[in-house]
Amino acid sequence: MSFFEWDKSLDVSVEEMNEQHRTLIGFINAVFEKDSAGAPKAEIVKSIEDLLTFVTQHFQNEEHYMASIHFPGLEAHKKLHGNLAVDMIKLAGNFKNGPAVRISSEFSMFLKLWLSTHIRGIDTKYGDYACSLQK
Ligand SMILES: [Fe+2]
Ligand SMILES: [Fe+2]
Repeated sequence: MSFFEWDKSLDVSVEEMNEQHRTLIGFINAVFEKDSAGAPKAEIVKSIEDLLTFVTQHFQNEEHYMASIHFPGLEAHKKLHGNLAVDMIKLAGNFKNGPAVRISSEFSMFLKLWLSTHIRGIDTKYGDYACSLQK
């Protein structure tokens, strides 16, 4: 069973980004699956690092896309990406370097919430802007 499924509420109206969000959900699910299956810590750390690599790429891709359509909210969006990346790197580091062998509820909450909140509340804005250009 997957922890997250992509559904229409996460649709940002830009298919390329929807596709990347589905991939992102897959990476998050992999972390939860390893964690709940009792995988060795090193494996969970590896899946968190894979997720971080993909997130970093995705943020860059999204920022390039927003620049390409001259989205006026680009700078504010970039700042939010920066904050998310800092928080995530911190939580990942705490897990990797700490004694825990399962991810904390704080980290798990972060992964569950930031994704849906950021995609629904923030990413949809560049999608709405892109749609308005086509009218
Ligand atoms: Fe974003
Ligand atoms: Fe995104």
